[in-house]
Amino acid sequence: MTLQTIILAAGQGTRMRSALPKVLHRVGSLSLLEHVYRLADGFAGNDINIVYGHGGPRLRNELAQLRTSWTEQAEQLGTGHAVMQVADWIGDDATVLILYGDVPLLTSTTVQQLLALVGDHSMGLLTVELANPTGYGRILRDGEGRAVAIVEEKDADAGQRAIREVNTGIMALKGGRLKGWLGRLHNRNAQREYYLTDVIAMAVADGVRVETCRPAEIAEVLGVNTRAQLAELERVYQLRLAHSLMEQGVTLKDPARFDLRGQVIDCGHDVEIDVNVVMEGTIRLGNDIRIGPNVYLKDCEIGDGTEILANSHIEESIIGADARVGPYARIRPQTKLADQVHIGNFVELKKTTVGKGSKINHLTYVGDAQVGSGVNVGAGTITCNYDGVYKHPTEIGDGAFIGSNTQLVAPVKVGKNATIGAGSVITKDAPDDALTLSRPQQVTVAGWQRPTKKPR
Ligand code: UD1
Ligand code: CA
Repeated sequence: MTLQTIILAAGQGTRMRSALPKVLHRVGSLSLLEHVYRLADGFAGNDINIVYGHGGPRLRNELAQLRTSWTEQAEQLGTGHAVMQVADWIGDDATVLILYGDVPLLTSTTVQQLLALVGDHSMGLLTVELANPTGYGRILRDGEGRAVAIVEEKDADAGQRAIREVNTGIMALKGGRLKGWLGRLHNRNAQREYYLTDVIAMAVADGVRVETCRPAEIAEVLGVNTRAQLAELERVYQLRLAHSLMEQGVTLKDPARFDLRGQVIDCGHDVEIDVNVVMEGTIRLGNDIRIGPNVYLKDCEIGDGTEILANSHIEESIIGADARVGPYARIRPQTKLADQVHIGNFVELKKTTVGKGSKINHLTYVGDAQVGSGVNVGAGTITCNYDGVYKHPTEIGDGAFIGSNTQLVAPVKVGKNATIGAGSVITKDAPDDALTLSRPQQVTVAGWQRPTKKPR
């Protein structure tokens, strides 16, 4: 079977009140249109054509990587008119699937069911029953319950408006048949539009059965016209992701307070995630990991048995096994923590590697540094890595002890097992196995008196 998919995406989306074309708004990490594209692209050999209108250059620029044809519908004269724009591209023997670019949550299971309904003498139509069908096209059925036509809300009489089974707009049918019917569409209706839905009555007249099926959940066929609908679909999507993680053995303290804008790959067992955790990009999680509340993770990898405590922010970094990070730690890009490292509160690391078992526990900035194993970095330590123009590296050897409130003025090296006295400003390399400190002599002024207020 040759499969061709037409994604209708020319609608303007005025109600979004946005400079961004509607289909570029995101659900999770992907634009609405990419969700639909990926669904279509998941079917092997699928030939895809996106019908676009508004924001064309921006769409094609931002989605340049998609393997699809693009067809412009310069004026939006209805769904039938949109499909007419690709009539020459449609193959007679192909099965044609029509999707909407602003309906992001449709599943491949539902599409498979729909495609299974297509034959030389039958087509598939996806319908749904809504408590409030306002605005949708209604499905008309004959005495035997066969779908025979779709009537748009604006063209419907009171009796038809009472019908709650509606058209989702998603359908599948043979290319040759579709092309024949497209040639007969007209715009003599309440909206002066070319309705794609008119092909249903034409099919019936030509002896093609209209078989219908339903999605597993209504959200699959909901479109986005407003920001409120976008937010609603975001929650549905997030719940789906949360449930799939739970099925993989992750404990989510509250699946409604978890956001994944990207994907978790290689997820281990017994991962526990507290509330309000946001993950972006590509995340790799080992086994037995605990992630505290309000943690933000982007493009990172976390090893077995590691604990990330509340309010920590980790980006483009690798955290080893049995490590402890946070609370309130900030791990910036290109940081690599070995196993059993402890990073404590108000510690910022940037482009730094930290060796096994080292501890940087309080109020510290370490950037562009290589920290060995078994190192202890005291509270308030700062690598002065930036001279206003260039960034410079700091090296701290295995087993070193950096006293509190030390400034390491880079480029600088602290040797193995070196000790740096508290409060030092280290501007020259400190040798192995020795105590180095730079500290003004402490003086005491005996008998000194504080000033007192003079009486007026
Ligand atoms: C259409 C159906 C209606 C169905 C509803 C489901 C027709 C005539 N009506 O309604 O039966 O219940 O969808 O949401 O088909 N589009 C274009 N070019 C156009 C017009 C629309 O590309 O000229 C695209 C839109 O971007 C959107 C989709 O087609 O993705 C549906 O358009 P929309 O205006 O939302 O739906 P209606 O035509 O009102
Ligand atoms: Ca419309």
